[in-house]
Order: sequence, then structure tokens, then C-alpha cells
Amino acid sequence: MQNYLTPNFAFAPMIPERASGNRVWDTEGREYIDFSGGIAVNALGHCHPALVDALNAQMHKLWHISNIYTTRPAQELAQKLVANSFADKVFFCNSGAEANEAALKLARKYARDRFGGSKSEIVACINSFHGRTLFTVSVGGQPKYSKDYAPLPQGITHVPFNDIAALEAAVGEQTCAVIIEPIQGESGILPATAEYLQTARRLCDRHNALLILDEVQTGMGHTGRLFAYEHYGVVPDILSSAKALGCGFPIGAMLAKEEVAAAFQPGTHGSTFGGNPMACAVGSRAFDIINAPETLHNVRRQGQKLQTALLDLGRKTGLFPQVRGMGLLLGCVLDAPYRGRASEIAAAALKHGVMILVAGTDVLRFAPSLLLNDEDMAEGLARLGNALTKFTATSDNP
Ligand SMILES: Cc1ncc(COP(=O)(O)O)c(C=O)c1O
Repeated sequence: MQNYLTPNFAFAPMIPERASGNRVWDTEGREYIDFSGGIAVNALGHCHPALVDALNAQMHKLWHISNIYTTRPAQELAQKLVANSFADKVFFCNSGAEANEAALKLARKYARDRFGGSKSEIVACINSFHGRTLFTVSVGGQPKYSKDYAPLPQGITHVPFNDIAALEAAVGEQTCAVIIEPIQGESGILPATAEYLQTARRLCDRHNALLILDEVQTGMGHTGRLFAYEHYGVVPDILSSAKALGCGFPIGAMLAKEEVAAAFQPGTHGSTFGGNPMACAVGSRAFDIINAPETLHNVRRQGQKLQTALLDLGRKTGLFPQVRGMGLLLGCVLDAPYRGRASEIAAAALKHGVMILVAGTDVLRFAPSLLLNDEDMAEGLARLGNALTKFTATSDNP
């Protein structure tokens, strides 16, 4: 098929056409088990009937009205987020990058309003990923995503992830915010230690800085709790969400405590599509299902099973000795001889009818539907097993 899109994506050789639950079919009619969840987005699988109904119902009522007005779906979804988190207020946007952009702008404005313009430094982690806008690639700790776009926004310090001493040295009176992913997603499914997040909280309190947790990937049930911060005994001041929030319908959200949110007065920030009634209607219905105890229980149970099965596959094939992550957000860390080959392995899996992700070059990533059932998990693992066995048999490296 002729590609008319800009060449910044390397598309897979097959073209998905339709999907249902945990299964996807391509234009040739081939079936795939989806362990990738659209990169941690399709948290309720594909075309969940309740979400189709919610979208259908809203589609016949109101598509778009602008932020001159508020709408019932936007208030309803915001209410659910507030009632089930640390937050008092929600700002809606359309993506994870926009949610982080809002979070970072809010933190700068809050500090400027209260303490003056010199309190503007943002502390972020090396290897973190926060999105693709100029501000978020600059805050993100992977220079490969920002180096071509200089001059970059200033006032950002990067520290090694999970290094407490480095964090203590970096955070001071000049710091307006510390931003952390509770589990670094794109760079390898690497969980923060509890001590690290707790230290970040303590340092922010000591220096009047805000703690921003980026839960774009870890949020909305993926770790077995609604938000990953609940595992850590740490409460942020601001949290960003997107991906699974709309389960495939584009939506992002920034959640904040009341006194912090108050720095955003009319006209200080905005978005044409943010709070779109269709996105919020889908998000609101998705929220109820994701936040149901049985769904979160399924994530913990199936996550444990998937982790055990993957570890078994990793040991049998000699490909990976370690599986890390939480719930249904897992990463298989390739053993030394296979480092750098994650994409080749994901491509081999696709050929065998199973969609998996990579996180960096050394980790195979899994972010399937939170509703993953035994049958689809078993079928996906069987296909993956075949793919991995064939890969190691034909691999010229080790
Ligand atoms: C932790 C994290 N933050 C932000 C983003 C950016 O989200 P989006 O691509 O929706 O802008 C991502 C996307 O992968 C992410 O994993």
C-alpha cells in the first residue's frame, strides 16, 4: 500500500483492519492476539460493547461545543477521577504529551505566582519519557528525542532514575517541580523504588516544589490499582493521565489539588478539543469498568499468571532471565547475547500471530487488555512460544 504519511513512523508490514476483545484481524484476514493493547491504550480490549454503546449514545447528542461551555460528560468523568484520587480538579486535553505540558506549565505558574520567577527549575529523570511536544521532549530524559529541535526550553535538570543522592542534590529552593514516571515505561518498564518516590515527596515538601507523577502509561488500572502511586504510599500534587483513559478514544487529563489548580485562571491555558463530549462519554463509561474491583482483581491475577508464563518462556528459550513491572504492564529484559534485538523479536512474534511491544532496544513489553482472559492468554503465549523458539533456533548471534 502506498504510504502518504510523513516518514517518522516505521509501520509494521501488516495492516490491521478490525478487532474485537483481545484479537485483531489484518486486511488479509490473518488473526493476531493483542498483547500490546495499542501501547497501553486499549485497556478494555477492542470495541468493548459498553464503550461502543456510550459512544453511540453520545454521538447522537453532542459531538463538540467548545470550552466556552462545560458539558455533562466532562463533569461526570472529572467527578469520577476526583472521587477516586488525591485530586480536586481536572483539566482535559487530548493526549499524554498535552497532559504533561499542562502539568509543567501549571507547576511553573504556581511557583511564579507564589514565589517569583526564579523558582522555575524542573527536575526530571534520565531515560524518562513524557511526550513529544517541545517542552515534554526537553523534560523527557532521552536526548535522542530532543536534540534535533534545539533551541530547547531551559531550566530543566536531569538526574539518574532511582538515585536518591542525586535527587537530593538536585532539588532545592529553585525547584518548582519534580516529575517522575512511577514505572519508566518507554525506556524499559523499570519501576521506581518506594524509597525513591517517598524521597521525592519529602524533598518537594521541604522546598515548596510540586510532585508531578506521569501516569500516562501506568494509570487506569494497568498495575492492578487505578493509579500506580497507590502502591507507593506517596500522593502527588499533579498527575497526568491519557492512553487508557479513553480506551482508544483520544483524551488526556491533568489532575491537581485545588490550591495548585487555582493557578490556572480563565485564559491562562486551554484546548479546543479538550473535554470533548464524545471522548468524555467514552472515558466515563470506561472508568466505571476499569475501576470495578473485579477488573482490578483480574489485572492482578492475570498479571501474575502472565509474568510466571513469560518467565518460563524466557528461561526455556534463554532469551530473558527477568520479567519486571506490575499487573498487566510487564517487561522481559533480554539477556546479554540478545540485547539490542527487541524489535526483531517483536517482528517475529507478529509473524506468528501475536502483537507485542518493545520498550527501548532490550526489553519486550506487554500491555494487554485489563480484561485478558485465560483462553486468549494461553493462545497468545503458545504463538509467542513458537515465535521465540524459532527466533533462537535461527538467530546467528549466541
Ligand atoms: C509515560 C508517558 N508519558 C507521556 C506519553 C505521551 O503520550 P502521548 O503519546 O499520548 O502524547 C507517553 C506515551 O508513550 C508515556 O508513556
